[in-house]
Amino acid sequence: MKIAVCPGSFDPVTNGHLDIIKRASQMFDEVIVLVVINPAKKPSFSVEERVELIGRVIKDFPNVKVDSYYGLLVDYLREKNATVIVKGLRAVSDFEYEFQMALTNKKLNPDAETVFLTTASQHMYLSSSIVKQVASFGGNIDSFVPECILDDIKNRLMKDK
Ligand code: PNS
Repeated sequence: MKIAVCPGSFDPVTNGHLDIIKRASQMFDEVIVLVVINPAKKPSFSVEERVELIGRVIKDFPNVKVDSYYGLLVDYLREKNATVIVKGLRAVSDFEYEFQMALTNKKLNPDAETVFLTTASQHMYLSSSIVKQVASFGGNIDSFVPECILDDIKNRLMKDK
Protein backbone atom coordinates (compact mmCIF):
# COMPACT_ATOMS: atom_id res chain seq x y z
CA MET A 1 0.00 0.00 0.00
CA LYS A 2 1.50 3.32 -1.11
CA ILE A 3 0.77 6.10 1.37
CA ALA A 4 1.53 9.68 0.36
CA VAL A 5 1.56 12.77 2.55
CA CYS A 6 0.62 16.24 1.27
CA PRO A 7 2.17 18.56 3.88
CA GLY A 8 1.67 22.29 4.24
CA SER A 9 0.42 25.16 6.34
CA PHE A 10 -2.97 25.28 4.57
CA ASP A 11 -3.79 28.67 6.09
CA PRO A 12 -6.29 28.32 4.46
CA VAL A 13 -6.60 25.47 1.96
CA THR A 14 -7.09 26.82 -1.60
CA ASN A 15 -8.32 25.50 -4.92
CA GLY A 16 -4.66 25.08 -5.86
CA HIS A 17 -4.13 22.73 -2.91
CA LEU A 18 -7.35 20.88 -3.72
CA ASP A 19 -6.21 20.26 -7.29
CA ILE A 20 -2.95 18.71 -6.04
CA ILE A 21 -4.76 16.63 -3.39
CA LYS A 22 -7.27 15.35 -5.96
CA ARG A 23 -4.55 14.35 -8.42
CA ALA A 24 -2.48 12.70 -5.67
CA SER A 25 -5.53 10.68 -4.61
CA GLN A 26 -5.59 9.18 -8.11
CA MET A 27 -1.92 8.19 -7.89
CA PHE A 28 -1.63 6.66 -4.42
CA ASP A 29 -3.62 4.19 -2.31
CA GLU A 30 -3.94 6.64 0.54
CA VAL A 31 -3.21 10.36 0.84
CA ILE A 32 -2.85 12.17 4.15
CA VAL A 33 -3.22 15.93 3.97
CA LEU A 34 -1.00 17.06 6.82
CA VAL A 35 -1.32 20.42 8.53
CA VAL A 36 2.20 20.98 9.78
CA ILE A 37 2.45 23.21 12.82
CA ASN A 38 5.06 25.92 12.42
CA PRO A 39 5.60 27.81 15.68
CA ALA A 40 7.41 30.58 13.78
CA LYS A 41 4.28 31.49 11.80
CA LYS A 42 1.23 33.38 13.08
CA PRO A 43 -1.62 31.68 11.23
CA SER A 44 -5.02 33.23 10.54
CA PHE A 45 -6.74 29.89 11.24
CA SER A 46 -5.99 27.62 14.19
CA VAL A 47 -4.73 24.10 13.50
CA GLU A 48 -8.14 22.71 14.48
CA GLU A 49 -9.89 25.11 12.10
CA ARG A 50 -7.55 24.24 9.23
CA VAL A 51 -8.09 20.52 9.85
CA GLU A 52 -11.86 21.01 9.91
CA LEU A 53 -11.86 23.07 6.69
CA ILE A 54 -9.72 20.49 4.90
CA GLY A 55 -11.98 17.72 6.24
CA ARG A 56 -14.94 19.33 4.50
CA VAL A 57 -13.03 19.83 1.26
CA ILE A 58 -11.87 16.19 1.02
CA LYS A 59 -15.09 14.53 2.13
CA ASP A 60 -15.77 13.12 -1.35
CA PHE A 61 -12.35 11.46 -1.65
CA PRO A 62 -12.51 8.12 0.18
CA ASN A 63 -8.74 7.54 0.17
CA VAL A 64 -7.83 11.00 1.53
CA LYS A 65 -7.51 11.82 5.23
CA VAL A 66 -6.46 14.91 7.14
CA ASP A 67 -4.16 15.10 10.14
CA SER A 68 -1.92 17.60 11.93
CA TYR A 69 1.61 17.28 13.26
CA TYR A 70 4.20 19.13 15.22
CA GLY A 71 7.67 17.87 14.34
CA LEU A 72 9.75 16.70 11.44
CA LEU A 73 7.85 15.59 8.38
CA VAL A 74 10.08 12.55 7.94
CA ASP A 75 9.23 11.36 11.46
CA TYR A 76 5.54 11.58 10.63
CA LEU A 77 6.16 9.54 7.47
CA ARG A 78 7.89 6.82 9.50
CA GLU A 79 5.03 6.74 12.03
CA LYS A 80 2.50 6.22 9.24
CA ASN A 81 4.62 3.94 7.03
CA ALA A 82 4.31 6.57 4.31
CA THR A 83 7.05 6.82 1.70
CA VAL A 84 5.96 9.68 -0.53
CA ILE A 85 5.75 13.44 0.00
CA VAL A 86 3.58 15.21 -2.58
CA LYS A 87 4.10 18.91 -3.25
CA GLY A 88 2.67 21.23 -5.84
CA LEU A 89 5.16 23.27 -7.82
CA ARG A 90 3.84 26.56 -9.14
CA ALA A 91 6.74 28.45 -10.64
CA VAL A 92 10.50 28.78 -10.65
CA SER A 93 10.14 30.90 -7.51
CA ASP A 94 8.92 27.81 -5.60
CA PHE A 95 11.68 25.63 -6.85
CA GLU A 96 14.68 26.63 -4.76
CA TYR A 97 12.94 26.23 -1.40
CA GLU A 98 11.10 23.06 -2.43
CA PHE A 99 14.32 21.54 -3.75
CA GLN A 100 16.08 22.36 -0.47
CA MET A 101 13.27 20.74 1.56
CA ALA A 102 13.18 17.67 -0.69
CA LEU A 103 16.95 17.15 -0.36
CA THR A 104 16.82 17.67 3.42
CA ASN A 105 13.99 15.18 3.77
CA LYS A 106 15.85 12.67 1.58
CA LYS A 107 18.94 13.04 3.76
CA LEU A 108 16.91 12.59 6.96
CA ASN A 109 14.88 9.68 5.59
CA PRO A 110 16.34 8.02 2.47
CA ASP A 111 13.14 5.97 2.08
CA ALA A 112 11.10 9.11 1.49
CA GLU A 113 10.58 10.31 -2.07
CA THR A 114 9.31 13.79 -2.84
CA VAL A 115 7.01 13.94 -5.86
CA PHE A 116 6.30 17.33 -7.42
CA LEU A 117 3.06 17.83 -9.29
CA THR A 118 2.90 20.77 -11.68
CA THR A 119 0.20 23.13 -10.53
CA ALA A 120 -2.68 23.50 -12.98
CA SER A 121 -2.15 26.63 -15.07
CA GLN A 122 -5.29 28.30 -13.71
CA HIS A 123 -3.83 28.11 -10.19
CA MET A 124 -0.30 29.25 -10.97
CA TYR A 125 -0.67 32.55 -9.12
CA LEU A 126 -2.68 31.20 -6.21
CA SER A 127 -1.43 30.90 -2.62
CA SER A 128 -2.91 31.10 0.87
CA SER A 129 -1.17 34.48 1.32
CA ILE A 130 -2.82 35.83 -1.84
CA VAL A 131 -6.23 34.64 -0.61
CA LYS A 132 -5.68 36.36 2.74
CA GLN A 133 -4.45 39.58 1.17
CA VAL A 134 -7.29 39.86 -1.36
CA ALA A 135 -9.93 38.97 1.25
CA SER A 136 -8.58 41.42 3.81
CA PHE A 137 -9.20 44.26 1.35
CA GLY A 138 -12.67 42.98 0.47
CA GLY A 139 -11.70 41.52 -2.93
CA ASN A 140 -13.48 38.63 -4.58
CA ILE A 141 -12.02 35.27 -3.54
CA ASP A 142 -14.88 33.12 -4.88
CA SER A 143 -12.67 31.34 -7.41
CA PHE A 144 -9.73 30.94 -5.02
CA VAL A 145 -11.12 28.58 -2.38
CA PRO A 146 -13.49 25.58 -2.50
CA GLU A 147 -17.13 26.63 -2.36
CA CYS A 148 -17.96 24.52 0.71
CA ILE A 149 -15.61 26.60 2.88
CA LEU A 150 -15.96 29.97 1.13
CA ASP A 151 -18.31 31.56 3.68
CA ASP A 152 -16.11 30.56 6.61
CA ILE A 153 -13.05 32.00 4.92
CA LYS A 154 -14.86 35.23 4.05
CA ASN A 155 -16.29 35.61 7.56
CA ARG A 156 -12.85 35.31 9.04
CA LEU A 157 -10.82 37.30 6.57
CA MET A 158 -13.01 40.03 5.16
CA LYS A 159 -13.15 43.19 7.17
CA ASP A 160 -15.99 44.85 5.21
CA LYS A 161 -18.23 42.20 3.74
O1 PNS B 1 2.72 25.37 3.08
P1 PNS B 1 4.15 25.57 3.51
O2 PNS B 1 4.23 26.50 4.70
O3 PNS B 1 5.03 25.98 2.37
O4 PNS B 1 4.67 24.12 4.00
C1 PNS B 1 6.00 23.94 4.47
C2 PNS B 1 6.12 22.60 5.20
C3 PNS B 1 5.09 22.52 6.29
C4 PNS B 1 5.89 21.48 4.21
C5 PNS B 1 7.56 22.49 5.77
O5 PNS B 1 7.81 23.62 6.53
C6 PNS B 1 7.77 21.26 6.64
O6 PNS B 1 7.86 20.16 6.15
N1 PNS B 1 7.86 21.46 7.98
C7 PNS B 1 8.08 20.39 8.94
C8 PNS B 1 9.47 20.50 9.57
C9 PNS B 1 10.47 19.68 8.78
O7 PNS B 1 10.31 18.50 8.55
N2 PNS B 1 11.57 20.35 8.34
C10 PNS B 1 12.61 19.71 7.58
C11 PNS B 1 12.40 19.77 6.08
S1 PNS B 1 12.81 21.34 5.49
